Amino acid sequence: MSVLSAKAGFLAAVTSAVVLFSLSAPLSAQGFDRGEELYNNHCKECHEALAHTRHGSKVSSIQDIRSWVGSWSAHSRLDWTGEEINDVANYLNDRFYHFTDKP
Ligand code: HEC
Repeated sequence: MSVLSAKAGFLAAVTSAVVLFSLSAPLSAQGFDRGEELYNNHCKECHEALAHTRHGSKVSSIQDIRSWVGSWSAHSRLDWTGEEINDVANYLNDRFYHFTDKP
């Protein structure tokens, strides 16, 4: 195999890995989920699923998630509205925690 085609093969592999990765991103049932978008844009890069599924999670209710989301919003200087905080908290609950207390 020439150096050139080895390079092309590598590039193709990288490209398809990137395509596969973006296709496997979870799509919410309604298409657009604001809580998910906000979380993906502002929070995910730091802890991904790790902080939410680890042993000894610090939250034990939807109310707890909401207060964590509120303090992270402030910490990250996002100043989310109550509605945005709710959306993100609900998204995290649906995706990771599955608590059943309702607001
Ligand atoms: C600077 C990195 C960073 C950013 C940005 C960040 N987090 Fe976190 N987050 C952490 C770390 C680290 C912990 C674990 C803190 C601990 O154990 O005291 C955590 C914990 C949490 C928890 C509690 C998890 C649990 O089950 O105990 C929630 C909920 C959370 N973050 C939500 C958010 C949201 C929402 C945002 C976006 C507004 C956000 N975080 C942005 C690093 C970050």
